[in-house]
Amino acid sequence: MSTTYRIAPSLLSADFARLGDEVRDVIAAGADWIHFDVMDNHYVPNLTFGPMVCSALKPHAKRADGSAVPIDVHLMVQPVDALAAAFADAGADLISFHPDASGHVHRSVQVIKSKGCQAGLAFNPAQPLDVLDWVIDDIDLILIMSVNPGFGGQSFIDSALRKIEQARKRIIASGRDIRLEVDGGIKTDNIRRVADAGADTFVAGSAIFGKPDYKGVMDAMRAALA
Ligand code: DX5
Ligand code: ZN
Repeated sequence: MSTTYRIAPSLLSADFARLGDEVRDVIAAGADWIHFDVMDNHYVPNLTFGPMVCSALKPHAKRADGSAVPIDVHLMVQPVDALAAAFADAGADLISFHPDASGHVHRSVQVIKSKGCQAGLAFNPAQPLDVLDWVIDDIDLILIMSVNPGFGGQSFIDSALRKIEQARKRIIASGRDIRLEVDGGIKTDNIRRVADAGADTFVAGSAIFGKPDYKGVMDAMRAALA
């Protein structure tokens, strides 16, 4: 079976004064998804952008041929449901949240799906996958955090590899088509190991936006995955 790998540049490390240009540039350089990190200064100790910024960027999330590039919203917020709905209205395609930030995980998943978006669950480095026992049939994406959420530019936490392996086993057992995304500390020199553990979708912020040549970085990542 061949895997379709996806690279999702995280706007957290983009130039916030030129976000529309950054979205277009990173898409021209080959981005598969745009990863949009929403932080609320409550669930995580940082504050980023809200639904109005997402809807302002939506028209820029297009390839040269006019096809849309999915906006992958990663909610690091508590509570979840009202903002999830607002991001769906703002043009998000996928919306992930942290199950420990929601009092009613199943309900939060349904809020996202009822808006026509794909739903994901995000797991912090010390968070177990147990909740998947009860909701794996309802979700489209599992996001494994390989850093503690809140900041870009942190180092990859190796225990995430074991968690990715466990998540992959659960996806296979479910028989469902669920994306397995990893977020934090992904670079050209570790992406292959992460793929070998079972991930198929890779968030990278500082590795891409920290270099002038976005295409060079993403091409090197794809070469490592090939
Ligand atoms: C961290 C965010 C990540 C972040 C990753 O809370 O969820 O998406 O942008 O940044 P890097 O790739 O620099 O570790
Ligand atoms: Zn993220």
